[in-house]
Amino acid sequence: MRPHHHASSTFAVLSLVALLACTDQRGPTAPPRAALEAQNPLTAPPVDVPAPAQGRYIFRHWTFGDEPFWTDTLLLNAVIEAAVSPATALAVGLKVDAERLPPGFLASADLTSPATTVELLRRDAVVGVEADVTADKHIKRLGITCALCHSTVDNSVTAGVGRRVDGLPNSDLNVGAIVALSPALPAAVKAVFNSWGPGKYDAEFNRDGINSPVVIPPALGLRNVALETYTAEGPVSYWNAYVAVTQMHGHGSFSDPALGISIQQTPDRVTPVLPVLRAYQLSLDAPAPPAGSFDPAAAARGQAVFTTTGRCASCHIPTMAFTDVNLGILHAPSETGMDPVRANRLKNHKYRTTPLRALTRHAPYFHDGSAATLLAVVEHYNSFFGLGLSPQQKADLVEYLKSL
Ligand code: HEC
Ligand code: HEC
Repeated sequence: MRPHHHASSTFAVLSLVALLACTDQRGPTAPPRAALEAQNPLTAPPVDVPAPAQGRYIFRHWTFGDEPFWTDTLLLNAVIEAAVSPATALAVGLKVDAERLPPGFLASADLTSPATTVELLRRDAVVGVEADVTADKHIKRLGITCALCHSTVDNSVTAGVGRRVDGLPNSDLNVGAIVALSPALPAAVKAVFNSWGPGKYDAEFNRDGINSPVVIPPALGLRNVALETYTAEGPVSYWNAYVAVTQMHGHGSFSDPALGISIQQTPDRVTPVLPVLRAYQLSLDAPAPPAGSFDPAAAARGQAVFTTTGRCASCHIPTMAFTDVNLGILHAPSETGMDPVRANRLKNHKYRTTPLRALTRHAPYFHDGSAATLLAVVEHYNSFFGLGLSPQQKADLVEYLKSL
């Protein structure tokens, strides 16, 4: 059961939401910015910028008022303060936004002390975690944002520390292990969370009690993709609302009669911001593959395999973001040799042909991560469809996938 939240918003937040609700591409006119900055200078949203930039702020910093769940229900503020050093935080995959830190901060900081984690949170430097830290260095409350799962950093300072990269999944993030730190959960539930491992999450577990997590996907390269999620549950905003209300436990409304969900909360801090949040996600293109990361001649040969012998292009249509979902086509698990458990938990009982984007940046592959590498993907199709690809063709096809 999700806990019931009590209205705790301030007038400033309410007026921001109202403002964003009626904001068009030109941006709003009467920013309540000063009021919000007075509350927390690090989390004041830009309200005088176009929709994608507002959406970026929300993607990175907006908790949708989910703090009561992460603070009062899971007690993670107390756990972090008592026991989570930066070394531990990095080990469970949390990322540090280096641009929030003064030069030399990490070199002189005690990375084994939870007090340093509190300081990182005070500086708003932990990607996807927003905390109110009191003057005497206690975490009064904290919440999570979309960036927790869907942003990473470029490791420009050291592993796990660098500039933010939005839209690529945090494949190191062990959400299950983090939630399982909560003293409020029964052992059986903790065991499920601890079974997921890095880069995976099960957004249906608290609804149906089944344990079949999926790989956290990229939230980019979706501009021309009609339906989102592995099982094509709905467009971008459908998922955004589902996850914000039912998983992040934000204070908002989400209903889907087909899933038996009807949650209405006032104020609704989710629905009004969905358009700008969507605009930001759709502005995120897949990053180009790093220079020298694939062999262009082999990739060109692999492209031919993709469209002919490999039969890949019949579903991953190159001119349609490498998916056929825009044509209204979904695939039964048995069509491509996928495990059916996940699909059967949801509405369509089928999988969407995954749009292929930035593939080298988010292994493993398939909804359940059953293919560790791109070669494993190719081997799967080669044996499932009986393609008879030669080792050379397989290698070329892999180079082509790396180029996408
Ligand atoms: C706890 C981790 C987590 C958080 C937080 C989270 N997501 Fe996701 N997101 C996922 C997972 C897992 C999926 C795959 C769901 C599925 O297919 O069943 C997903 C799917 C998506 C997709 C669809 C990608 C595709 O290829 O279809 C988008 C877009 C997205 N998330 C954006 C967001 C936004 C925006 C937020 C904040 C409102 C958010 N997510 C919060 C884990 C998360
Ligand atoms: C009959 C339609 C179909 C054909 C043919 C097909 N795919 Fe797929 N592909 C899918 C579906 C459906 C998924 C999603 C499966 C899942 O997540 O479990 C997928 C997923 C993938 C993924 C995983 C992407 C990710 O981000 O996890 C890759 C890579 C891929 N396919 C490559 C190929 C290649 C290469 C070929 C040709 C050898 C091919 N596909 C042929 C339908 C197809």
